Amino acid sequence: MTVFYKGFPQSDRNQAIKMVNVDELEERVKKVMPEAAYYYIASGSENEWTWRNNTAAFNHFQIIPRSLTDMDNPSTDTKFMGMDLKTPVMICPIACHGIAHKDAEVATAEGAKAAGALFSSSTYANRSVEDIAGATGDSPKFFQLYLSKDWDFNKMVLDAVKAAGYKGIMLTVDALVSGYREANLRTNFTYPVPLDFFTRYGKGEGMSVAQMYANSAQKIGPKDVEKIKELSDLPVFVKGIMNAEDAYLAMGAGADGIVVSNHGGREIDTAPATIDMLPEIAAAVNGRVPIILDSGVRRGSHVFKALALGADLVGIGRPFLYGLALGGAKGVESVINQINNEFKILMQLTGCKTVEDVKHADIRQINYTADNLPSNTDPAVRKPYPVTKDNQLEGTQDAVSGASKH
Ligand code: LAC
Repeated sequence: MTVFYKGFPQSDRNQAIKMVNVDELEERVKKVMPEAAYYYIASGSENEWTWRNNTAAFNHFQIIPRSLTDMDNPSTDTKFMGMDLKTPVMICPIACHGIAHKDAEVATAEGAKAAGALFSSSTYANRSVEDIAGATGDSPKFFQLYLSKDWDFNKMVLDAVKAAGYKGIMLTVDALVSGYREANLRTNFTYPVPLDFFTRYGKGEGMSVAQMYANSAQKIGPKDVEKIKELSDLPVFVKGIMNAEDAYLAMGAGADGIVVSNHGGREIDTAPATIDMLPEIAAAVNGRVPIILDSGVRRGSHVFKALALGADLVGIGRPFLYGLALGGAKGVESVINQINNEFKILMQLTGCKTVEDVKHADIRQINYTADNLPSNTDPAVRKPYPVTKDNQLEGTQDAVSGASKH
């Protein structure tokens, strides 16, 4: 269940996870992950306003039901950049999956493959791009690039990524330095498992987040997008776009796609939620290139709204990493399937037979007070249900304690 890498406990589970929703995994994962590692993943910057509002802001939008649509068996299959996917939910890049599991990104990629989802690896992955590709063959994979100040490093990375058969690059441009993440300071977090590309380049273990960012470029402009396209000869998605101006600049530099992201609330605290910025960015992009949205996605309804407001794929981050810790590749698959199944319910209830139909679904912005309260049966708010002799099903009472088995 647990193995150790130089004293750091890693899961070696590979089992499907039962859950009612992915939010539940937050508490469950604490039991199998050290505190500093958990907070590195879970936390945001400063007061975590953006981290919270990324999810809460999906409630700014409402899904209009459609009923007399004469439709059944909706399909979540979708085509993206020539790739056949079983779901519009994708695995976003996160550093150091070895925090969650001994098989790290290899297990995540296997889970994504089983669910038919696009996987993306990080520059700061523990496992090599070759190992990941070796384990998962030609299943759809993207690679996220943190641009280094050192162009020899960039070239080494891109050559390896291309040779390993990855289908696209996500160039991160919103994390020029680390956001002010108090959790990392309070726990003195350093990466507990070596990061493959740094090891190859002769840089060692035990790197802090600050050291890692010191290695990456602070000065990034449209010319760098052009250069990465040239060097990689792959489609380049610019990740971390939060306004129309940057979307225009990215497209002007030849970007093949845009990733609307605020880095999961880990960079500028009080930056708006991605779903609130998506409509104006989608209007600026105007269908010229595909759009991926991430940050705060926890529900099928979030995926539905993002697609209806202009995204082509919708990325999840933290939840899949919790799935990885709790169930390895199968746990990752469970998380993707959970969100995808919630999404599919909404497709039926809105008469959307295909993902393309969802992109034309009726979404409104009625001015409710946005809340993000859990359901009444959520363990966080649910009170113990009273057991009386009158509310039990016949024959279900425990003979000794009198407690209900239902
Ligand atoms: C982070 C970087 C590695 O957010 O993307 O920690």
